[in-house]
Amino acid sequence: MKLNDGIKIFLRPIKPTDEDLWTDWYYSLSNISKKFRFLDTHRQLTPQLIKESVHIDYVNHFALVAIAKENGEELMVGVTRYRLDPPPDSAVIVGAVLDDWQGKGLGTKMLLYLLQIMIKRKIKQVHGDISLENRLMLRLLDQSGFQITEKDANGIRHFEFQLTA
Ligand SMILES: CC(C)(COP(=O)(O)OP(=O)(O)OC[C@H]1O[C@@H](n2cnc3c(N)ncnc32)[C@H](O)[C@@H]1OP(=O)(O)O)[C@@H](O)C(=O)NCCC(=O)NCCS
Repeated sequence: MKLNDGIKIFLRPIKPTDEDLWTDWYYSLSNISKKFRFLDTHRQLTPQLIKESVHIDYVNHFALVAIAKENGEELMVGVTRYRLDPPPDSAVIVGAVLDDWQGKGLGTKMLLYLLQIMIKRKIKQVHGDISLENRLMLRLLDQSGFQITEKDANGIRHFEFQLTA
């Protein structure tokens, strides 16, 4: 797959051997991207968070990663995931792209790919939380074309929409 600037990216499910790549991705996110992605739900990176992020069952929890090549080395530049919540047909989605890689179309491509996978898996409701400071994501949500239900509380916008094939 190619980004808007022509750079090649490989999209694939996360795998158990991705612990180091995922950890590098995490440490490379800016504080603001980390805050928007993790919403202060954790304070620091722990071995447990790394394990939970990388060792998934691909059914209840699925993650898609974007890999770039820099100087012959693999670099994880984006991660998006869903968790069934509640099973069997509702899921929460989250994602983040490394700051230097934002604005090249990657976030949109990863989200569309993830939503296609979710549709194939008969997931019907999608939901998530966005910081009210995250103006970009709030705008994207408004422009998404989905019929969105929203509720704001404690600095967070909770959104929900239905997925149809
Ligand atoms: C949200 C996020 C994943 C989007 O990823 P991305 O790769 O930048 O997305 P895209 O390049 O596909 O851009 C999507 C839209 O945002 C716009 N955009 C992206 N970066 C922008 C920037 N810095 N300034 C202005 N617009 C920007 C693009 O123009 C595009 O708009 P369009 O659809 O109207 O053309 C990324 O910004 C991110 O990781 N943010 C931090 C974590 C986060 O907020 N996660 C969401 C909550 S879990």
